Amino acid sequence: MSQIEAKPVFQPNKEFSKTARIKNMCEYKALQDAATEDYEGFWGGYAKEKLDWIEPFTNTLDESNFPFVKWFGGGKLNVSAQCIDRHLEFRKNKAAIIFEGDRGDKQVITYLDLYYKVNKFANLLKEDFGVKKGDRVVIYMPMIPEAAYAMLACARIGAIHSIVFGGFSSEALKDRIEDAEAKVVITADGAYRKDKPYMLKPVVDAAIDANSPVKKVLVIERNNEDVTWVAGRDYSYNELIKSKSGKCEPEVMDAEDPLFLLYTSGSTGKPKGVQHNSAGYILWAQMTMEWVFDVKENDTYWCTADVGWITGHTYIVYGPLAMGATTVMFEGVITHPDAGRPWKMVEEHKINQFYTAPTAIRVLHKMGEHEPLKYDLSSLKVLGTVGEPIDPPAWKWYYEAIGGSKCAIVDTYWQTETGGHIVSPIPGATPIKPACATFPLPGIMAEILDENGEKSPVGEKGLMCVTRPWPSMIRGVWGDEKRFVKSYFGDVKKDGKPVYFTGDGAVYDADGYITITGRTDDVINVSGHRMGTAEVEAAIKKHPNVAEVAVVGKPHEIKGEGIFAYVVLKSDSGVADEVEEVKAINKVIQKEIGNIALCDDMVFTSGLPKTRSGKIMRRILRSIAKGEEITQDISTLEDPSIVEKIVNMLRK
Ligand code: WTA
Repeated sequence: MSQIEAKPVFQPNKEFSKTARIKNMCEYKALQDAATEDYEGFWGGYAKEKLDWIEPFTNTLDESNFPFVKWFGGGKLNVSAQCIDRHLEFRKNKAAIIFEGDRGDKQVITYLDLYYKVNKFANLLKEDFGVKKGDRVVIYMPMIPEAAYAMLACARIGAIHSIVFGGFSSEALKDRIEDAEAKVVITADGAYRKDKPYMLKPVVDAAIDANSPVKKVLVIERNNEDVTWVAGRDYSYNELIKSKSGKCEPEVMDAEDPLFLLYTSGSTGKPKGVQHNSAGYILWAQMTMEWVFDVKENDTYWCTADVGWITGHTYIVYGPLAMGATTVMFEGVITHPDAGRPWKMVEEHKINQFYTAPTAIRVLHKMGEHEPLKYDLSSLKVLGTVGEPIDPPAWKWYYEAIGGSKCAIVDTYWQTETGGHIVSPIPGATPIKPACATFPLPGIMAEILDENGEKSPVGEKGLMCVTRPWPSMIRGVWGDEKRFVKSYFGDVKKDGKPVYFTGDGAVYDADGYITITGRTDDVINVSGHRMGTAEVEAAIKKHPNVAEVAVVGKPHEIKGEGIFAYVVLKSDSGVADEVEEVKAINKVIQKEIGNIALCDDMVFTSGLPKTRSGKIMRRILRSIAKGEEITQDISTLEDPSIVEKIVNMLRK
């Protein structure tokens, strides 16, 4: 029986389709067929057409050591040159980045400006800090243009950047610095959020001690806040940059030289350093910008993500710049000073494509349902969502109130590991259904499989997989080959061969549309941010009073999922005030991970439901957190009475 309801279908806007890159489903299918018939020919053709090679590649795909694959072997290029230098001939005075600060301050950075900024930054890293090809550089930055310059400067000299989201704590930053053995951190002396300064430098100071691999810290002086400067370690970007030459030859990089690492949560405690390499990543970043957002030469495109997440990497910086687009970068909070802020920005900048997370849509809807009416949103052509399943009411508001029922909504499904979109509508071609990621993009062999590697029947939940390696696929988990293989290629086999498993569940409807149903592992999606329950549990366990803990996700009206923690205190902990104890435990989480991992609910229980072999039954805990009736068989539990105790306690 089908588990999903039939959804209404919205046809693409006819006017839009006329000039779209992919105009209808026939064109889409032709591309998909071309990729199926000649996979290497398909990708090789695009790699030749879309990228500027310093030396051409000779071998499109080498799968001999799967899953350690190589794309475009023998090819040489530089990603910063793809994003900047090649646009100088025809677009030097075009806006590359339009920056809007929290307090409304604006900057327009042309491609020529960007060229000089990045070249100088690259020279600074090379000359003053001795950064060389292959060195790791951690970027811990607010959303200011210098974050993009820093990324591109690393790419220019072949250094591998690892951006750590500014909301992570000093402990989380320290772990990531150490795992990557970074020698430099780039940060800022502060930034603005909701009209107030917020500080990043003290977090960096706390993350670096005498044993740290980091020997130099570069500080962008954004705010001129009073921060501590450590002599011989900390340097002012604003000072050093003055003397730098605006010309830095791009390093000649192999197609498979690493471009960046980005740490992300998995189902075990330690975050994984997801590695992306040069050519395949930048190719797909550019192609998806063109196909999925259909950005035209004169368009202004805005993605509200943070550069600290993969969406910011691929769809604020690399993708838009690779295609020569104008990308908007926003420092602030979209609900400040009110929930009309993004719509005001859409009107002012005449934004054509707007890309955000379902959480943001829910907040903007709830806080300012009628705000869109105050602004002229007629410039909008494509609206995008990413990061979590979008619920139909939020989708409807987005479609009607923001898109005026004329814009396509591209519900883009992808992950840090996939580098770019893998399942998504194409705005001029795909008839869309609310809250549905629709079909695999051309060239992506994405399929929903069951545990035996057979295609999932209609209406039955299966595993979202990709059965052939694609150019922007994750190339490794930094320093841990085994974990790379085990995390992604261990669970599902098709025709006896391991395939890439995303960790998400999904379902086909009768028309073959794909709906993503959410993670099948112990990863939860809080406001579209990926959080490993094991990571939160590891943090909570650091509190001396905690004996045991289990963390699960619970549906949350705004955030999509919230964090629900069941904590067993040590018998001798002598805790009298539970409210204070919750605060104390949340403080530990704040210290170990950051505010993004604070628990929405925390309950103290006398035990956890476990099997006789000691495995915590999270499924039961998830049901209890949701307030569902417990229908699972609990007779095999070590102590079945614990379930009732927890349920009764929560009822009180
Ligand atoms: C979820 C973000 C439903 C999914 C780009 C995935 C989605 C995780 C969608 C990756 C979508 C992303 N519909 N779920 N359109 N897009 N997800 O690595 O669970 O931060 O595995 O990358 O977000 O999160 P990540």
